Amino acid sequence: PAKPVIFSGMQPSSDSLHLGNYIGALSQWTKMQEDFDAFFCVVNLHAITVPQDPKELAERTRTTAAQYIAAGIDPAKSTLFVQSQVPAHAELAWVLNTLTGFGEASRMTQFKDKSQRSGADSASVGLFTYPILMAADILLYQAHAVPVGEDQRQHVELTRDLATRFNSRFGDTFVVPEAQIQKGTAKIYDLQDPTSKMSKSAESEAGLIKVLDPANVTKKKIMRAVTDDDASIRFDREAKPGVSNLLTIYSVLTGQSMQSLEDEFAGRGYGDLKKSLAEVVEETFAPVRTRTEELLSDRAELDRLLTTAADRANEVAARTLDRVYTAIGL
Ligand code: ADP
Ligand code: NA
Repeated sequence: PAKPVIFSGMQPSSDSLHLGNYIGALSQWTKMQEDFDAFFCVVNLHAITVPQDPKELAERTRTTAAQYIAAGIDPAKSTLFVQSQVPAHAELAWVLNTLTGFGEASRMTQFKDKSQRSGADSASVGLFTYPILMAADILLYQAHAVPVGEDQRQHVELTRDLATRFNSRFGDTFVVPEAQIQKGTAKIYDLQDPTSKMSKSAESEAGLIKVLDPANVTKKKIMRAVTDDDASIRFDREAKPGVSNLLTIYSVLTGQSMQSLEDEFAGRGYGDLKKSLAEVVEETFAPVRTRTEELLSDRAELDRLLTTAADRANEVAARTLDRVYTAIGL
């Protein structure tokens, strides 16, 4: 029997993935690709909903794809492709635009958040209709599940509503997908501000561990991580957020339990914990960095991998779009 389909996307909006992306998204996807027919999309059409530098966008699209492959997304098992190479995304998005109520679109909280940053009047209409393009991304592949973070729940709900609406108006066409929100997936916090999540949008990069940073940069950031005055190494999210964050990262990357880490570091100082953690992070990221550099140094090969994936995506997407056009009389 065919495997169930998952779809997930990542924006090429940063020069490097960070530790939160690696633990919260990428390492999960790597596991899932065994059991699902997985479509992972570098969503560059979403990236242009806010101002971009063209050269940088092209560069980041490649770098993002390379990092995903380097971290374990296997192009032979998963379809890892670039959104703009599959025209059906924009075509289906237009159709779904015509089925979405203006009020319905206005209720999307991410637009409210993101447009506040630029001022609602200078935000683009593309940013406003972003969730409709995301619905098209998902529905084109007849995805059963969409592994995303909690912040994307509302967009997947809209996707479900649009699929259901289309199916009841024009006949059964789309699989109605479920959001697969990873419970129990560790949330990683900023090293300098361990009560807010590690994020590329943080104001300073001092607390942000980037996959592609050289080892000495990462080590310095870890050694300077905020801890506390109570010199004991134990997990206590409320009372000891900084130390708990370091322990979480350690535990997730090594697979060692919290208890065994507390035992191992009993009676030792924060400096020891940080030094060890820097080594663990380096062991994890060094091969990813090396492989990313290899992939980026052979652009022809990387582009070939992406083109092959886009061919497969185009095949599946065109089939869905054809059914959609026929159903609505286009
Ligand atoms: P950012 O918050 O840096 O903008 P994105 O929103 O692009 O990151 O998130 C991409 C993926 O990485 C999502 O699946 C998200 O849930 C996951 N992710 C991002 N930051 C973290 C974090 N600090 N801890 C765990 N997972 C995270
Ligand atoms: Na984000």
